[in-house]
Amino acid sequence: MLGNFSYCNPTKLYFGKDAIQGLNEELPKYGKNVLLVYGGGSIKKNGIYDRVVEILKANGKIIAEDAGVMPNPTIEKVYEGCERAKKCNADLILAVGGGSVCDYAKAVSVSVYCKEDPWEKYYIRFEEPDNKIIPVGCVLTMVGTGSEMNGGSVITNFSQKLKIGKVFGEEVFPKFSVLDPEYTFTLPKYQMVSGFFDIMSHLLEQYFSGTDDNTSDYIIEGLLRSLIHSAQIAVNNPLDYEARSNIMWTATWALNTLVAKGKDTDWEVHMLGQAVSAHTDATHGMTLAAVSLPYYRFILPYGLSKFKRYALNVWDVDGTGKTDEEIAEEGLKAMKAWMRKIGLVMNLRDLGVKEEMIDGLVKSTLVMTGGYKVLTAEDIRNIFKASL
Ligand code: NZQ
Ligand code: ZN
Repeated sequence: MLGNFSYCNPTKLYFGKDAIQGLNEELPKYGKNVLLVYGGGSIKKNGIYDRVVEILKANGKIIAEDAGVMPNPTIEKVYEGCERAKKCNADLILAVGGGSVCDYAKAVSVSVYCKEDPWEKYYIRFEEPDNKIIPVGCVLTMVGTGSEMNGGSVITNFSQKLKIGKVFGEEVFPKFSVLDPEYTFTLPKYQMVSGFFDIMSHLLEQYFSGTDDNTSDYIIEGLLRSLIHSAQIAVNNPLDYEARSNIMWTATWALNTLVAKGKDTDWEVHMLGQAVSAHTDATHGMTLAAVSLPYYRFILPYGLSKFKRYALNVWDVDGTGKTDEEIAEEGLKAMKAWMRKIGLVMNLRDLGVKEEMIDGLVKSTLVMTGGYKVLTAEDIRNIFKASL
């Protein structure tokens, strides 16, 4: 049965070729001081930086910069960003980059005026902001996280070996996001396919939970089919606009809160993957790819009917004359073949994990309760071992 919910997504999107012009509509709504946040420099190489600065200047903005946001952004970087935002008295934080830059911008937005340590308040105690929040806008350059239209903000504390995602409410969602599929054309293949798997994982985290007849699951199946189809086209030709734009739109829908409404969700794959990143700094989507199949094989007996449905409706497995277990297993096999074909990392060793690190990984893994099986520490250990 569909559970009760309220739904509102306040992020305004500008999608398509030259969507950057949307900034001209948005910027006049905010004060003069803009903190321009970006990563390690890809936007300077591909010209996006110049475009954004030109539009900011044309709109009379005073620009302060906060560069060097790293993949798996750290809490130390957030503290630094808060100082910069305070110093320039930021009226708007403009994030230009991938999920890391967008997540980081949200973390800074709620932390600048926070009187306590934001790591403790938001990421350990999961409290809500009760101070002024600086508005955030995004220009997305990497597809996968859905950060462009949600309140998620994942921050890493390497000294504590924790990578934690705080899901903030609507007041922290980006006020607007610019989504131009062509801005993603310069992504290296490794990042591109990592993002593709991140999208798949978001959809599966919300699909493999609950046993009721739920509209969301039908939407998820459609999004998965579109992703699987377009990903293959994009891998063969990264400049295929149709495929890249379909994937960009799928990524947004996969995690803009809609498909989670009224149903249980899991998120254990993300907890396993985030533990891996907290120890190795590995790329998010690849950590998910390395642990997903061992995890799904482990929980399959507890959610058999959904795994059977997944095989039939998403992977077009022919179920004639087969047991439910055989059908479900064929679905995972088809998923594995697709993962290999698009070039994902399929094991943790390739991400720098060694057997002796597993105890630490188990400690860093949060346990969720919305999936088909609540994992014990032993279960987690076995899944990591099987992922090596
Ligand atoms: O830093 P630069 O130089 O810009 O390079 C980046 C970075 O090295 C590069 N890149 C991005 N756009 C590019 C480009 N290179 C060439 N051309 C472009 N157009 O790609 C690399 C990865 O970027 P990053 O932002 O780290 O990737 P992604 O978008 O996958 O974000 C990952 C972060 O988002 C979090 C992850 O945990 C991870 O920390 N997530 C956020 C979520 C949310 N807000 O809801 C949910 C997700 O599950 C995810 O956990
Ligand atoms: Zn993810």
